[in-house]
Amino acid sequence: MKSSPEVLKEVDALMAQSHQEADRLKAICAMLQRERPHYNWVGFYFVEGEELVLGPFVGAPSPHVRIPIGKGICGAAVAERQTVVVPDVNADPRYLACSIQTKSEIVVPIEHEGRILGEIDIDSHTPDAFTSDDRTLLEEIARRLAPVLAEQRKTKIESRK
Ligand code: SME
Repeated sequence: MKSSPEVLKEVDALMAQSHQEADRLKAICAMLQRERPHYNWVGFYFVEGEELVLGPFVGAPSPHVRIPIGKGICGAAVAERQTVVVPDVNADPRYLACSIQTKSEIVVPIEHEGRILGEIDIDSHTPDAFTSDDRTLLEEIARRLAPVLAEQRKTKIESRK
């Protein structure tokens, strides 16, 4: 298992590759799952209007491809503009079930210049799986990804003009 600084180096290396953004993000999901075996489902959601839309992920397919902001743990993290850690998903009325095996969840918003672009969502089959080390690592990953994702979105919008 790589240390947090090593995982961050991997994130930087994967983001520097010339593949499409979705492939780079999926590679980050797979790397996180490999390096942190308690991350059973790892994925990105992106803000589109009033909804979160599922992006690249690894793990079981989720029925929640679109989530209204404010709904679920995913929507709560955007509405509250902060990381949400749920040690027992079955005890949280906000929880939208993806897999019956999921016991705990962490959702980390990706914010750039005051705007939430999306989030990193991780589910674990282990109850209370996420420590402050996980939170610190994932918040640092979100901080590093934010400017890259913001730039990609700008380019996409400009190329549509
Ligand atoms: N559990 C999330 C929904 C997304 S799935 O976990 C992939 C939620 O409550 O918002």
